[in-house]
Amino acid sequence: GSIGKDGYRHYMEKELHEHPLVIGQTLQRMVDPASRRVLLPELPFDLAKVPRAVITACGSAFFAGMIGRYWLEEIARLPVDIDVASEMRYRNPPLTEGSLGLLISQSGETADTLAALRSLREKAIHIVSVLNVEHSTMARESDVVLGTVAGPEISVASTKAFTAQLTVLACLTIATARARGKLDTLAEEHLVSALLDLPSRAAEVFNQTDAIRAMAQLVVEARDVLYLGRGSMFPVAMEGALKLKEISYIHAEAYAAGEMKHGPISLIDRTVPIVATVPSNALFEKTLSNLQEAKARGGRLLVFTDTKGAERVSAIAEQMVVLPHVHDFVAPILQTIPVQMLAYEVAVLKGTDVDQPRNLAKSVTVE
Ligand code: G6P
Repeated sequence: GSIGKDGYRHYMEKELHEHPLVIGQTLQRMVDPASRRVLLPELPFDLAKVPRAVITACGSAFFAGMIGRYWLEEIARLPVDIDVASEMRYRNPPLTEGSLGLLISQSGETADTLAALRSLREKAIHIVSVLNVEHSTMARESDVVLGTVAGPEISVASTKAFTAQLTVLACLTIATARARGKLDTLAEEHLVSALLDLPSRAAEVFNQTDAIRAMAQLVVEARDVLYLGRGSMFPVAMEGALKLKEISYIHAEAYAAGEMKHGPISLIDRTVPIVATVPSNALFEKTLSNLQEAKARGGRLLVFTDTKGAERVSAIAEQMVVLPHVHDFVAPILQTIPVQMLAYEVAVLKGTDVDQPRNLAKSVTVE
């Protein structure tokens, strides 16, 4: 049957509000709440013996993969390559037998991702796909499917599928780290607790809707917007910039905050808002000093932070959105939500066709 908007203005708004639910549903499938351990489906290979992973995907799913790389490398100490699917084959990376090919796709039908899957298949590596549509072509051609339990996503711009993908990648990271002897039971419980806490924290993000709308008023006037983040917040910035481009047609560019001084700083003036994602973590001070540099050149700072970072950020930001403070591990999942909401509110102000933006398709089945 057809799916309604439940009183929301657009499917995208409805799906944004489903973030807490889909994170919870996805965790229910992957975590045993009693023992606080991650449970993967049975694998036809030994995770402990995987020498390397290659991640590939398109669009938002690619940014989810970038965050997955931070986690797999830092927590599981597994070396990871990553490429957008349309480029992966041209790089033709040399891969050791028994490596892991990790494909990420909401639809399971994206032509570039499917072609990448098939090219990886030829290399005798294990194909694990993170998919929302579990009866898709990619599902049939994978050794293992890790399902995101996001339900149907109607809005062309991906929202809830993205946080569900991150939830699966977080669980896969924990299972891989355990298999490789990088995580003891206590440490695993600690990370799993941070994940289980996330649906409630994600629900609190919607208390910030007015602050996000105030930010949108400043962004909607701009021709260009610069998004900044460091570490695992860099892909969050990329996701924010992509969303803004897709649905509001405003040009946006994401930069690693530390790289700004090597180029985009020359573009900064009062007309280019700078959207930064800066929760209080080990990179907080460095990112803040990048923002100071931008402000000194007339840049207007619109900053997403958390309760621990709020005081410092309020001293320099023109607008800020304060999220609950969460464990570093899950912060990129939480911080993605308001960044997507900002793009939505800007598109609403511009009056674009939010759910069906021009020139875009939900699932791109041509290379
Ligand atoms: C399209 C959509 C994006 C999506 C990408 C990948 O370009 O506009 O929102 O991220 O496809 O789709 P997939 O189904 O493979 O996740």
